[in-house]
Amino acid sequence: MTFVITIDGPAGAGKGTLARALSHHYDLALLDTGLLYRSIGVQALEAGIPLDDETQLSRIAHTLAPKDLMRPDLRTHEANDASSKVAVFHKVREALLNFQREFAKNPPAGFQGTILDGRDTGTVICPDATVKFFVTAQVEIRAERRLKELQARGIKSIYSSVLQDMIERDLRDSQRSEAPLRSPEDALTLDTSTLTPEEVLKKAIAFIEMRR
Ligand code: C5P
Repeated sequence: MTFVITIDGPAGAGKGTLARALSHHYDLALLDTGLLYRSIGVQALEAGIPLDDETQLSRIAHTLAPKDLMRPDLRTHEANDASSKVAVFHKVREALLNFQREFAKNPPAGFQGTILDGRDTGTVICPDATVKFFVTAQVEIRAERRLKELQARGIKSIYSSVLQDMIERDLRDSQRSEAPLRSPEDALTLDTSTLTPEEVLKKAIAFIEMRR
């Protein structure tokens, strides 16, 4: 069976940072599943498709291509908001399911396995993953990190609106009926509020070595 790691958790908790570090450490192919929803949201905004038109949104989902995940505008405030709006729909999620499962099962040549990060990778996409993590942190700390990230990219932002956006997105992601954000039962929870990325990585590696 393919070696698969899943990392789920709310926005800004450090999933991406941990996923990248683990992918280097273990030579794993990485899929940031949030990019799929971001790309659908951005394409819908561009085409003037309402963010509640499930049928048209699922059409975009069915035609997603790798180049759509590399657009430079997938991390804007508009993309954040649109991604979690399109992610509530069953047909959209269904259209993305096979792609994610196939990626997880079949790492490209040269990789030792796969790592997926998102909201439902350990609960819905890969319930049989080798190792699962749930990465979280206090919302104020996550908002501060996101603010710094935005400022580093030259995007003017204020803390209160970043915090508000994050609270709204967390609510939408955890209260939706389709694949809500949950910690998988067999996941190790890592609260990164007071940990450095290196400390998080060390704990994650210790858990992986115990499990495989
Ligand atoms: O992880 P990221 O913040 O890029 O995800 C953007 C949005 O995509 C999330 O807020 C969530 O609504 C949606 N998402 C999801 N399931 C995933 C990954 C992301 O619903 N596996």
